[in-house]
Amino acid sequence: MSVIKVAILGFGTVGEGVYRTIQSHADELTAVLGKKVEVAAVLIKNKHKEREIREGVLVTNNFAEILELPQLDIVVEAIVDKEPTFTFLKKAIERGCHIITANKEMFAHHGKELLNLAEENHVTLGFEATVAGGIPVIQTLRQLLKINRVQQIQGILNGTSNFILTEMRVKKQSFAESLLSAQVNGYAEADPTNDVEGYDAFYKTMILSRIAFGEEPNWQDVEREGITSITSELIETAEKLGLRFKHIASLTRAGGSIKASVKPVLVGNEHPFYHVEGVENAVNVFSDIVGRITLQGPGAGMYPTASAVIEDLVYVCQSKPVKSSATPTSTSISESENPQGKE
Ligand code: NDP
Ligand code: HSE
Repeated sequence: MSVIKVAILGFGTVGEGVYRTIQSHADELTAVLGKKVEVAAVLIKNKHKEREIREGVLVTNNFAEILELPQLDIVVEAIVDKEPTFTFLKKAIERGCHIITANKEMFAHHGKELLNLAEENHVTLGFEATVAGGIPVIQTLRQLLKINRVQQIQGILNGTSNFILTEMRVKKQSFAESLLSAQVNGYAEADPTNDVEGYDAFYKTMILSRIAFGEEPNWQDVEREGITSITSELIETAEKLGLRFKHIASLTRAGGSIKASVKPVLVGNEHPFYHVEGVENAVNVFSDIVGRITLQGPGAGMYPTASAVIEDLVYVCQSKPVKSSATPTSTSISESENPQGKE
């Protein structure tokens, strides 16, 4: 039986979850794809960390080694920051690999360019994991948009923020204690400022805007506020009034323009997001034929995110055949393009 060879960039919460899920769901993947999926390499930064991983698969700080694998069909990216990620993914696409990314910051900034490059190179780019963790919101929108016209989207898009607000209210924990729990659970970004100041939800909102409306509002015009101003006292007062703080992203197409905001909002019991608690995310999509649909589920964490990546693995394989014969080409990364250098 032929084999689909996958490289995973990163072995943190997401990368490890993907690695484990490829092993635990090997039979299902083989049944759906008609080929065995094999992890050929995993890129990491720190060779001193203890890891539960097959011998010989780890590559430390040397993306060129991954690009030079004799067969490489799919690159799953689960590292952090815009660079060197963007450079790595361009090289992988030029080599003829399908790409799956979980990195919303990178994708919000460079998604358009990567999608164009993928089209030019006849490969597919999956980015389901960039928005709302395990909820299949991108695939749902793609399906919905075949005929429906989307008018508005509202969502709780940051699991860490919703988790912190819930912990502060239910367990009466401080902001700092609640953030620490989110970090321990693997929900928070490497730099949690992205979560608690609303940047992560902002990036997700821009990705959704591009899918739903084909364009984004001007980033400078988007109201962005995180949850750092929401104190325990405010949460308690709101609760006495039957209200809860929810960090809500909103996108509306009005006339020729798109209005967007990402900020904490007080909602009452009648609001569809009132009962969305902990790390859960929720997305309301309003479209002209169907009306409102609501998607809800785990918005962060190892296995919910792995689920989105594995769904993408099937999506990219089924959208265009994997180029199993793809061999290393002149696109190999040069020393100057590998900003980390070799450890
Ligand atoms: P972690 O911090 O847990 O893991 C990051 C991994 O990437 C580590 O293995 C790290 O190596 C490796 N890494 C970082 N930079 C480099 C580099 N330059 N070269 C090689 N390896 C590198 O992050 P997460 O797994 O939580 O997140 C990964 C990505 O997925 C992020 O973009 C995040 O926004 C996104 N995401 C995260 C979700 C979550 O719930 N955590 C959900 C959805 C998306 P080492 O282990 O050696 O330090
Ligand atoms: N840090 C992100 C969150 C991970 O808490 O929502 C999922 O994108």
